[in-house]
Amino acid sequence: MTADADKRAAAEAALDYIEADSVIGVGTGSTVNHFIELLGQQREPVRAAVSSSEASTGLLRRAGIEVMDLNEAGPLDVYVDGADEATRHLALIKGGGGALTREKIVAGASRRFVCIADDGKLVGRLGTFPLPVEVIPMARSFVAREIIRRVGGQPVLREGVTTDNGNVILDVGGLGIDEPVAVERTLNDIPGVVTNGLFALRPADVLLLGGDGGVRTLHRNA
Ligand code: 5RP
Repeated sequence: MTADADKRAAAEAALDYIEADSVIGVGTGSTVNHFIELLGQQREPVRAAVSSSEASTGLLRRAGIEVMDLNEAGPLDVYVDGADEATRHLALIKGGGGALTREKIVAGASRRFVCIADDGKLVGRLGTFPLPVEVIPMARSFVAREIIRRVGGQPVLREGVTTDNGNVILDVGGLGIDEPVAVERTLNDIPGVVTNGLFALRPADVLLLGGDGGVRTLHRNA
């Protein structure tokens, strides 16, 4: 199967975690795009979705799914989102699509985080994928210097990208991340950092990996 077919298989498997009439959180990216399309085809759709990006909001509305403001929704049952890298402990790197801050907010507001990906995303150690960091524009150069001083790596400005929150993204290459919780906290302590793409303090609860043998399910604390 192609990576795209693996993504679609993982997205389809996530439908089993969705209860009719619930309000769910929806992430961003090509894997989630499959999920939104499949969700829109369900006979018993969800009541509404809280979206993590303007891109997903548009797709959800086109699929006939009501989009709700997180402030109106309260705690969410399930959050479904993709990842750029995942470990078997379900710590993630996210933000390849630039939506990391809203993704982290919606994941944090959800009881259960179901992560969907092709099995090429499973890694032994996080950090081969450059770690996205969302930064207030005026702090860009200062934050880049502080990242190098505090955790190392090579921060590179993502050219031509402004996030949905009006900020810029630094992609930090050259990190081999052995302690994701500590790195997540250290980066978030730098003034000017909005958030970073490590999801270790709030990892996924379930990881659905599409691959040649079908969809494999990994649970946190398994
Ligand atoms: C967007 C994300 C995506 O979930 C991540 O980039 C994976 O994307 P894709 O499903 O296209 O492989 O974090 O900010």
